[in-house]
Amino acid sequence: MLKKLVRIYRDIKRRLKSQRQQTDNLYKLLYNMVHDLEESVNLTAAQTAVSFSDQWKKFPDGDFLLSDPWFKSNVADIIEKEELQISRDWIKGKKVLDAGCGNGRWSYGLAQLGGNMTCVDINQSAIDATKEALKECNVETQFQLSPLETVAEKLNGQKFDLVYSWGVVHHCQSFNKSLNQLCSLVKDDGVLFLYLYGRERLNMIDDIELFKERIAYNLLDTEAEKLKFLMKKANGDKKKLNMLHDYYSPLINRRLDYNYVREFLEERGFELVERNKKHPELFIRAVKSKKSDVINHFLPEPKAPFWFQRDLGSLKKIYVK
Ligand SMILES: C[S@@+](CC[C@H](N)C(=O)[O-])C[C@H]1O[C@@H](n2cnc3c(N)ncnc32)[C@H](O)[C@@H]1O
Repeated sequence: MLKKLVRIYRDIKRRLKSQRQQTDNLYKLLYNMVHDLEESVNLTAAQTAVSFSDQWKKFPDGDFLLSDPWFKSNVADIIEKEELQISRDWIKGKKVLDAGCGNGRWSYGLAQLGGNMTCVDINQSAIDATKEALKECNVETQFQLSPLETVAEKLNGQKFDLVYSWGVVHHCQSFNKSLNQLCSLVKDDGVLFLYLYGRERLNMIDDIELFKERIAYNLLDTEAEKLKFLMKKANGDKKKLNMLHDYYSPLINRRLDYNYVREFLEERGFELVERNKKHPELFIRAVKSKKSDVINHFLPEPKAPFWFQRDLGSLKKIYVK
């Protein structure tokens, strides 16, 4: 009798293990399809675009956005000293592209530094919010609704001294096409600045676990259930909802290896490519020509804690910090 029970128990255990393996394989397959660097599957690309459109409508306020008084009054300094590490006297009067402008926090900061702004996003809600944010700035502005994958042709041959893209290209349907377009928009003596999710911040196994949570979040039936999910992750702090929505809602959420991006940029003529912050996410400043005057305006690399490490202590099980 006991032997029989042990056999049944082992059999169930073996079956469960094999089922889990199969489910894990399915998730892995789906993960790879969604995060293909050349082209994510169409369905997820549409979902990702809509997800951000919702984000700017549902959660326009929060920490590190323009509704955060600390962020708004410090964003120009943050860009100058922590992100670009290029002194403001170089930025003033330059032609700047904010690629994937969201609700305008960086466009606003860059405009405060005197940049003439072109703001692009795939979502009209983002363009509208950025237009509103720039109303109080005294610089030239231009707005373009476009996916980054085809933005260069929409901008009719214009080139930029600075192309700034914070947290966008890893969400695009085609990472390669989008980055290629951004490279082509930088003037011969210009700069490209990118913030991208880094693979070294989160290993593949944990990333697939996060991907499972993302799918679970997207399968929740009602808006109320989704809000409850995010509020739980935020430990009840509404100011974190925008950031958390960014993490759990858009299905395309790639993590990049620095060497892949560095080689990509070097192949497209960038002579000086650097990670300009010691952090496992990718903060990349790339200059097309080593002879460019911008190099004379570089500032020293800042040390941690960085601006985004302010007040994240209350977040529960979140993968930023
Ligand atoms: C994480 S948000 C970042 C917004 C802004 N850069 C910031 O840091 O606040 C990503 C933005 O990229 C936009 N986006 C996503 N896919 C895009 C694409 N293929 N082309 C252009 N914009 C895209 C979204 O609409 C969203 O506004």
